[in-house]
Amino acid sequence: MAANNWDPKSWRAMPIRQVPEYRDTDALNAVEERLSSFPPLVFAGEARNLKRSLAEVAAGRAFLLQGGDCAESFAEFHPDNIRDTFKVLLQMAVVLTFGAQMPVVKVGRLAGQFAKPRSGPTETVDGVELPSYRGDIINGIEFNAEAREPDPQRMLQAYSQAASTVNLLRAFAQGGFADLHRVHQWNLGFVADSPAGERYQETADRIADALGFMAACGIDERNTPSINKVDFYTSHEALLLWYEQAMTRMDSTSGDWVDTSAHMLWIGDRTRDLDEAHVEFLRGVINPIGIKCGPTLEPDNLLQLLERLDPENEPGRITLISRFGAGKVAESLPRLVRAVRNAGRHVVWSCDPMHGNTIKSESGYKTRPVDRILREVQEVFQVHQSEGTFLGGVHFEMTGQDVTECIGGAQGLSDNDLSDRYHTHCDPRLNGSQALELAFLIAEMLKEGRNNDSLREAS
Ligand code: PEP
Ligand code: CO
Repeated sequence: MAANNWDPKSWRAMPIRQVPEYRDTDALNAVEERLSSFPPLVFAGEARNLKRSLAEVAAGRAFLLQGGDCAESFAEFHPDNIRDTFKVLLQMAVVLTFGAQMPVVKVGRLAGQFAKPRSGPTETVDGVELPSYRGDIINGIEFNAEAREPDPQRMLQAYSQAASTVNLLRAFAQGGFADLHRVHQWNLGFVADSPAGERYQETADRIADALGFMAACGIDERNTPSINKVDFYTSHEALLLWYEQAMTRMDSTSGDWVDTSAHMLWIGDRTRDLDEAHVEFLRGVINPIGIKCGPTLEPDNLLQLLERLDPENEPGRITLISRFGAGKVAESLPRLVRAVRNAGRHVVWSCDPMHGNTIKSESGYKTRPVDRILREVQEVFQVHQSEGTFLGGVHFEMTGQDVTECIGGAQGLSDNDLSDRYHTHCDPRLNGSQALELAFLIAEMLKEGRNNDSLREAS
């Protein structure tokens, strides 16, 4: 049922941050009207299924893997890029399933992750000041006045790109590509040549053996569809509310409002104020919701947000995505975890080890050191272990492409390498082999945690 005093446009009466000023309101209205008449990209039943799976994560019985681009772009839109990111996510999921010995819920930052919050409204280069780039759904990245002017027509192109992306992902997930018998074929060329890729080969061999053994026992894809199909969900930051509102539809069977632009939406760390537009919009849709939790979030604040966004305390509704930065977890996370636990709240705790670990390299690139990314996950894991809560997931910015945006990892990428293939439109992403390497390390950590838990239970 609809939330109290809410409708899809009630956010418009609230203060709002991090959105563009569209000068041509007629053009904006026309685009909104067209988008509202377009087919939904996802369905209410799918969003509910994801919520059910996330409820399993909240209960400590499954693990969430969420990953993809920082910002999708019109320029990088290509089926091979979608396929390769999907392959790496499948590889990571397999590795994590092995380590955690739990089902892994797979959610892409894909098919709609276009709009970006920025540190300032304008950017100055050589004395010229222009509006900041806010993602391809809003304006262009080129540094000239025309490109930087927010253009509502871009929402139509973003919709079209999201529609074909989600279509391809559905085909990959359900049409045989994700069949576990093909586990060896997900290893991309450049990944296969890296240490993580070699290690993956061994895991894949073990899976192939296990599948053969299970088939001999009568367990195969005919009675167990999860062997040759996966559920794959989409997500993005619900930042550009004109777009989100236009994609919001009432589910005729239940009367629920669903934001059909993606299965899961999250609120960014810069737009999570209680009485502002982004929280207002998301409180009324039934999709699973993520909340980014950064260093300025106070426990009281968080509890109020939970009350506002999840008054029924529904398991799977809320995923709290902590993002503090390596070295800052111990001072910030425990008090949030305690407040949420003491309030009896059923949430998923996930860890975004990317956004607190962005630095400027000596050569001037925005980058992230792989060792700091791993350290943050370890620190978060430690906190949950000592608080008796469950680290239920990880949230990565990554791509299947062989980019050079984050430094470190077994390939040993250094500052000097960054200029080789630095393609991101926003934050630096892990490349396929760095992402896979991290998946292995996290899997080990989960396995160790599992062993410690069973030792504790036995004693
Ligand atoms: C993001 O996920 O791309 C992002 C901007 O994160 P945050 O809101 O946590 O800074
Ligand atoms: Co980012």
